Amino acid sequence: TQNSLWGGRYAEGPGAIMREINASIGFDRKMWRQDIFGSLAHAQMLSRVGIISSEDEAAIRQGLADIARDIEAGGFAWSEALEDIHMNIEARLTERIGEAGKRLHTGRSRNDQVALDVRLWVRDAIDGLDAQIADVMRALVARAAEHAGTVMPGFTHLQPAQPTTFGHHLLAYVEMLSRDRGRLADCRARLNESPLGAAALCGTGFPIDRHMTAKALGFDGPTRNSLDSVASRDFAAEFLFACAMCATHLSRFAEEIVIWTNPYFGFVKLSDAFTTGSSIMPQKRNPDAAELVRGKTGRMIGNLVGMLTVMKGLALTYFKDMQEDKEPVFDAAENLALALAAIGGMVRDMQPQVARLEAAAGAGFSTATDLADWLVRELKMPFRDAHHVTGKLVAMAEQKGVDLAGLTLAEMQAVEPRISEGIFDVLSVGASVRSRTSYGGTAPANVAKMAAEWKEKLA
Ligand code: ARG
Repeated sequence: TQNSLWGGRYAEGPGAIMREINASIGFDRKMWRQDIFGSLAHAQMLSRVGIISSEDEAAIRQGLADIARDIEAGGFAWSEALEDIHMNIEARLTERIGEAGKRLHTGRSRNDQVALDVRLWVRDAIDGLDAQIADVMRALVARAAEHAGTVMPGFTHLQPAQPTTFGHHLLAYVEMLSRDRGRLADCRARLNESPLGAAALCGTGFPIDRHMTAKALGFDGPTRNSLDSVASRDFAAEFLFACAMCATHLSRFAEEIVIWTNPYFGFVKLSDAFTTGSSIMPQKRNPDAAELVRGKTGRMIGNLVGMLTVMKGLALTYFKDMQEDKEPVFDAAENLALALAAIGGMVRDMQPQVARLEAAAGAGFSTATDLADWLVRELKMPFRDAHHVTGKLVAMAEQKGVDLAGLTLAEMQAVEPRISEGIFDVLSVGASVRSRTSYGGTAPANVAKMAAEWKEKLA
C-alpha cells in the first residue's frame, strides 16, 4: 500500500527491504516527547499568525495530548510502514482528529522537524548528564575531604614517583569532570537555536514566525540559515565528543579502581555491591563495574568517530545518511549515564586501605625528590647536582636493601660530606606531602581547603 503521507505520486508501496532499511521508528521513537513538544509550538504559531484556525489548533493540541498519553501508557502501536517518529505521530493525529491533523505540517518539513527533535533530545540529555556529573563530583569531594591527609603513592609511568594523598588524587578527577560539564554547557549554548521553520531546506513562503516557535521551545532564537539548519549535525558531534571525553576520564578512574583493588596493590576495597564472583574460582572478587565503565568507553569513542564519518562526505543539504545521527547520540547519552551512576556508586562504596596506602607511599624511594630539594635548600647546591647526589644515595640504599631513611648519616656523608642530621626530617611521606604547599599542590591543608571550596561550589 502507498504511504499515506507521501504516497501521492506512487502507484505502489515500497519493497520490503526498502521499508526495512528506511525505517527509523525502532530507535527514533525515543524522541516522541520532543516531537510532540515541537509540533505543539508549531501549531500554536500557525494559528497565531493565521495560517490555521484556532479550532484546528485546539484539535491538534488535544490530539497530541491524547497521543502522548497513549505512548506514555505503552498503548501506541508503532508502524514501520510509517518510517519514523514524525510520520507515526502525524498519521495517528489525523486518524484521531481528521482534517486538522493534515494541516499541522504546513510550512514545515521532516528535515527541520528532525533537526529540531534531535537538538531538543540532546539538550535534555545534556541537562540530565550535567546533574549526574555534578553528583559524582559531590561524591568525590566528600571522599576527598575525608582523606585529605591519607597519604598514598603518586605515580608516573605507574612507577612510584612522589607521595600524594588520596584526597588530592580524587580531586584531580573533580577538575576533569568540571571541564566535562563545561564542555557540555558550551555544546548546549551553541546548539540552542531553533531550526524549526527552515522547512525542507529553503524556508517557506508562509508567513510563519520562527522567533515565536524558537521562544516557545526555549531556544535563544532561530537559526539564521535554512540550508545550514537542515544540513548540520555538528551539535551532535560536539555532544558526542563531550560524552567521549567524559567517558575517557571515567575510564581512567575505572582503570585505577581495577589496579587499586588488585590484591598486590590492595589500595581500596569494594563491597559486594560492586564486585562479582567467579563461577569456578571461589576466592574471586572482580571489579566488573569498573571494567565495564572502561570497556564502554570504546563504543563512546566509536559513536563520535561514526558520526563524523557519516557527515564528512555529505554535500548540502539533507541526506538520509543523517538518519544515522540518532543511535550514536542515544547510545552515548545512555551509556554515559550508566557509567556515571556506576562510578558514583563505587566512589561512595570504596574503602581506602589507609595503612596499606601509607606503607606503599614510602616505597620505591618516593621521597628522593625531597632529599634533593633539601640539598638545594640547605647546601645551596644547584638542583642538577643535587639530583646526581641523590641518585647515588638511592643506588646505595638499593644495594643495602633499605629505604633512604635507612642509610646512616656517615653513609650519606661519604657521598656528600656537608649532609647533616636535618636531612632525615624530610624523608618521611608525611613530611613530604606537608611540604608541597605550592598552589594546587598535594599538602593535606591545601587539599582540605580545595575540597571545602568544591563542596561549596557544588552545593
Ligand atoms: N527519519 C528521518 C531522519 O531521521 C527524518 C527526516 C526525513 N526526511 C526526508 N527528507 N526523508 O533523518
